[in-house]
Amino acid sequence: MGENRAELAGHPDRIRWNARYGEGSGPSFVPHPLAARALSMPLPDGPVADLACGPSGGALLAAGAGRQVTAVDIAEVALGMLGQEAERRGLRGLITLVQADLREWHPRLACYALVLCTGYWDRDVFTTATGAVAPGGLLGWEAFTAEARPARPGLPAEWCLGPGEPAALLPSGFEVIDQHGIPDAGRGTKRQLLARRR
Ligand SMILES: C[S@@+](CC[C@H](N)C(=O)[O-])C[C@H]1O[C@@H](n2cnc3c(N)ncnc32)[C@H](O)[C@@H]1O
Repeated sequence: MGENRAELAGHPDRIRWNARYGEGSGPSFVPHPLAARALSMPLPDGPVADLACGPSGGALLAAGAGRQVTAVDIAEVALGMLGQEAERRGLRGLITLVQADLREWHPRLACYALVLCTGYWDRDVFTTATGAVAPGGLLGWEAFTAEARPARPGLPAEWCLGPGEPAALLPSGFEVIDQHGIPDAGRGTKRQLLARRR
């Protein structure tokens, strides 16, 4: 993290998520099923990017497999938890923690063997993320759909996937491996995508 992120001090996403992580009983560091699935599949050489990572078990799993990981989140509380756990597991040197608003994040193009994002949706960030996937690499994404809104009245429409998304937004050169809905125990429906760049 190192850098001065003073420009994020008043960012509403940072404030909200830092508060949430501060209240919680502590992370489990269990990898998200999509992370576990993607990391079990054939991947080219290269690093992994975990976007809106939180205290990510997926980032730890990837680093445990010897991958360099770039873990991006706006909440330094979550990044601090991830960094501590990585340290405890002897993996800290493999994980670069980046505190950033993903809408301002500019990754290296066609560089990552896997770009993963679960629990966050922004159309422009998705477009940016597609450009970061290396040839032969995977893109994994999971977010709420618009059908989740009645069960979650505070969820703005722009944070929700529209019909057919995110697969419908993939640029040419990607092949959809799987996209399916996931009912989320009374909290609305999520949708999960796994795609490979040719
Ligand atoms: C629902 S949590 C998902 C965490 C983790 N990916 C998972 O699946 O458990 C959403 C994450 O998005 C991060 N986040 C929210 N707004 C963000 C933004 N504008 N830029 C970067 N990260 C953001 C939050 O700090 C939080 O860690």
